[in-house]
Amino acid sequence: MTACLEDIACALVGGGKGILAIDESSDTIKKRFDAISLESTEENRRDYREMLLSSVEAMSQYISGVIFHQETIRQKSLKGSLFMDLLKTVGSIPGVKVDIGARPLAGFPGERLTEGLDGLRKRLNEYSRLGLRFAKWRTVISIDHVGLPTMAAVRKNAQALARYAALCQESGILPVIEPEVLMDGIPGDHSIDRCYEVTKYVLEEAFTALREAYVKFEGLLLKPNMVIDGKEARRASIDEVAEKTIRCLKQTVPAAVPGIAFLSGGQSAEEATAHLSAMNAGSNSYPWVLTFSYGRALQTAALIAWGGKRKNVLDGQRALIHRAKMNSLAALGQWSQDAESSS
Ligand code: 13P
Repeated sequence: MTACLEDIACALVGGGKGILAIDESSDTIKKRFDAISLESTEENRRDYREMLLSSVEAMSQYISGVIFHQETIRQKSLKGSLFMDLLKTVGSIPGVKVDIGARPLAGFPGERLTEGLDGLRKRLNEYSRLGLRFAKWRTVISIDHVGLPTMAAVRKNAQALARYAALCQESGILPVIEPEVLMDGIPGDHSIDRCYEVTKYVLEEAFTALREAYVKFEGLLLKPNMVIDGKEARRASIDEVAEKTIRCLKQTVPAAVPGIAFLSGGQSAEEATAHLSAMNAGSNSYPWVLTFSYGRALQTAALIAWGGKRKNVLDGQRALIHRAKMNSLAALGQWSQDAESSS
């Protein structure tokens, strides 16, 4: 079983490919659609996701797997194919977000606990029957000036992540562990060094909980934030972000983990690409493969180019192909500003 999970993990992170995250909750996708003045109806969400998923070039050459929202799993293209099947025909692997979101943590003002463990075993068995091969669970940790995060909030989230991962492995589904330290925090002006300290602690707690839950490290992927300064305090250079992120991961992530696929977390699309490329460039060799599992950094340009109109589908896809190609170069450590402007 672990060997099979390891194969899925390696297929998701190998060959200069990465993951496209289109699993936005209804609140989040509404925010994204608000930016292009589009109502968030089921039909518009379907149309948007069809525009992305039907780009054969992006899906077959650069995107190893897609994280679906539950709604998308059962949706079909206008020609009547399940999106899941569309993906499989181009060799990309379908996955799904299985947490049900982060809710206020009672007793800990300003902190949240990700929920969704109730009934998860049954849902995972159903997902496995449907052909989904991996699942994602995201916890969110905020940084503030007066003591957040608390040890208790970090630990409770780590324990939920570990329970979810153990259930996934039992069902033969690869768990993708996403313990995100938010860039926007409260008020989001923390330094890169504070982000380093909190990320290190969050990852240490996550791997301790995973170990205690007998989760096999070979059969999971990590989807972390980069070590970066808060959204209101951007100062660090590309090299500093790359160097501190790698240092933090080396201190915390076991070598048995096959791969690390970063979230973009509110970085601009180009920053997310440049940071990943800097980590992969040069003669560095790490125990894990480093790639992308981006939501906004892959989608924003495509969403704007599409603008909610069927006549703009090709424009949206062109924007997606470009970003996916740039991130694929970054996964190989080969992205450059020239590549950005010449393609
Ligand atoms: P971003 O890349 O926009 O952070 O999204 C990744 C993701 O999956 C969030 O859970």
